Amino acid sequence: MNKKKILITGGAGYIGSHTCVVLMQAGFEIVVLDNFCNSSEIALTRVKKIVGRDFKHYVLDVRDTDSLRNVFAVEKPFAVIHFAGLKSVNESIDQALNYYDNNIAGTLSLLKVMKESQVYKLIFSSSATVYQQSTIMPIAENSLLSACQPYGQSKLMIEEIIRDIVKVDANWQVAILRYFNPVGNHESGLIGEAPCGKPNNLLPLISQVASGELANLSIFGNDYPTLDGTGVRDYVHVMDLAKGHVAALQAIESWHEALPLTVNLGTGRGYSVLEMIHAFEAASAKVIPYKMVGRRAGDLAVCLADPSLAATLLDWQAKESIEKICADTWLWQSMNPQGYTEI
Ligand code: NAD
Ligand code: UFG
Repeated sequence: MNKKKILITGGAGYIGSHTCVVLMQAGFEIVVLDNFCNSSEIALTRVKKIVGRDFKHYVLDVRDTDSLRNVFAVEKPFAVIHFAGLKSVNESIDQALNYYDNNIAGTLSLLKVMKESQVYKLIFSSSATVYQQSTIMPIAENSLLSACQPYGQSKLMIEEIIRDIVKVDANWQVAILRYFNPVGNHESGLIGEAPCGKPNNLLPLISQVASGELANLSIFGNDYPTLDGTGVRDYVHVMDLAKGHVAALQAIESWHEALPLTVNLGTGRGYSVLEMIHAFEAASAKVIPYKMVGRRAGDLAVCLADPSLAATLLDWQAKESIEKICADTWLWQSMNPQGYTEI
């Protein structure tokens, strides 16, 4: 039994809640910190139900440095997994200040308190959006970096901050994980992605069309240089992603070369929008009506991870199929048509 306590910021969110399950099932103790700005406390109740164990959580903004200090003093975490942040590319364009404040000031507050408390182990949630758009596919970690919207910029700036502090202080043991397209949910259907308002991402939109909540799906472009003309992405099951965090926690402890350890979490295999629709139709036995509309500004034709470094350094590989992803998503949608409500 591993009794190490992990502090999870943003632990009530989509990826955080799944990581809570996986960490507890791997024997870690957890404590969650979240201000619920994009999540529900019910997610944490559901995590407890899945795992059959209790844990403490703090309703706190990570930018509240004084309160954060108290949490560290009381909880004495062994390591931190930092999910807390705002994540919508579109919203970040209209709310740049809010995004920079939440994501960057939030991370600075956390890093300061970690240093003061001598807690130096950190796993940070980054994104494929930090790679320069013209880069060669699949994307390796040493590809050129640049971001063209505030959300991506905030992730890139945080990565730079982490690289700077790690360079001059050998105490830090940090992993930066660059996620590709997280999808799916726990197979119980008890936890999943519950976006506040209308979703932006493909899978939540497809599920809402399947359940009749939305009339149809708009496909953003069918003239890309791909198999069927629609955009291709690297969809990774969130349970696989969650396991990547446990693997990263184990890896940073024994890693003695240059830090931060920076790895892609993706599958290396791409699916087009039409392939996703067909897979979802098969999983749900529903027809997904769609219409072709113009390309969405800023979209790439293809975005694929080179996942080989994660296999080498973390001994991690995504395992779940697209069929499983669609089946799990449909179960979550069917059991929770209004997102998280009391049951
Ligand atoms: P999410 O919005 O579901 O979860 C984020 C959680 O952080 C929410 O529970 C929210 O309430 C909390 N939070 C936000 N700001 C906070 C603050 N200042 N203080 C305390 N809590 C705060 O998002 P997610 O999909 O679970 O993403 C988790 C992390 O992974 C984010 O940092 C996101 O940028 C990153 N990421 C997500 C994706 C994706 O497609 N889901 C892709 C790449 C990277
Ligand atoms: N798509 C549609 N119709 C929709 C929504 C999406 O056709 O209504 C298409 C997109 O054009 C794209 C694919 O479905 O080809 C996936 O789109 P998502 O919005 O689900 O995902 P993206 O890859 O565009 O964006 C994701 C995250 C961003 C992150 C980016 C790069 O949502 O936060 O990956 O990592 F910045």
